[in-house]
Amino acid sequence: MSFPATRMRRLRASTELRALTRETRLSPDRFVYPIFVTSDRHGPDPIPSMPGQYRWPIDSLRDLARDVYRAGIRGVMVFGLPDHKDETGSEAHNPDGIVQRAIRELKDAVPGLLTIADTCLCEYTSHGHCGILRDGYVDNDATLDVLAQVAVSQATAGADMVAPSDMMDGRIRALRDELDSAGFEHLPMLAYTAKYASAFYGPFREAADCAPQFGDRKSYQMDPGNRREALREAMLDVQEGADILMVKPALPYLDIVRQVRDNVDLPLWAYNVSGEYAMVKAAGRAGWVDERAVTLELLTAIVRAGADTVLTYHACEAAQWLQEV
Ligand code: PBG
Repeated sequence: MSFPATRMRRLRASTELRALTRETRLSPDRFVYPIFVTSDRHGPDPIPSMPGQYRWPIDSLRDLARDVYRAGIRGVMVFGLPDHKDETGSEAHNPDGIVQRAIRELKDAVPGLLTIADTCLCEYTSHGHCGILRDGYVDNDATLDVLAQVAVSQATAGADMVAPSDMMDGRIRALRDELDSAGFEHLPMLAYTAKYASAFYGPFREAADCAPQFGDRKSYQMDPGNRREALREAMLDVQEGADILMVKPALPYLDIVRQVRDNVDLPLWAYNVSGEYAMVKAAGRAGWVDERAVTLELLTAIVRAGADTVLTYHACEAAQWLQEV
């Protein structure tokens, strides 16, 4: 059947018809909101390169948790800014560390709000790398032991999920083993499966004070040119026991999202990272794009590419806008 019997424009005629025939729908429960927590009491402290985002003091988390949950968002990803950094990132597994305290506070305020802990060392190491250094190289297996301790301490604090973002080999199995032997066999793991060595993390590194003090992360995060490698990472994470896979960043890597979606049946999340957020905010503020329309369009695109859930700094605003439509 072709024209004139077929007219594609018939179903585009009204807002209502378009709504009824839309293939991809957004809703606030598809979003996870990443937050930065600090022990500094003077806050919330605005993050200059991420307008609308803050470093939250512990005592502001109660209100934040309620607001986020009320907006229809069901999960937060928690990043901490510790008071002390050292060579091995030991603050990351302090039972009274910043993330551990934040999780207790969030769970106490709103038990239903899922807390996901970022399991990584870069915010906690003096050198800013995601692992333990040996002769200037991030030592994979030595890092696994520390990460496993971090995951257990986050679980002990009440985290509903742990999310290793370090890109060490074998971390999913190492964390699963350690969590299971500590009695956390029901705790799900969100694997940062395909995490690329991306310049789009720039604003985050400023916000979380975790830029590497020398070199870069290219010896552990993935090369942006590689697509097949993402599938190998995905297969390994599945074998090692991941519950959910993630692709990061999102927008420049939608082909990776689609490829993983088509090849793996696990839930798939995508991380719409700080640099992606900053660009939209900058263009919106300059009046160069319609910020609201652009934001809802890009979130739709990430879901259309195959992500079940999107980690995004736009979460609260987008949830609000969706309610107004
Ligand atoms: C820590 C981590 C990073 C991000 C999430 N977890 C930074 C990095 O790997 O350098 C980036 C998130 C964002 O840019 O929004 N490993």
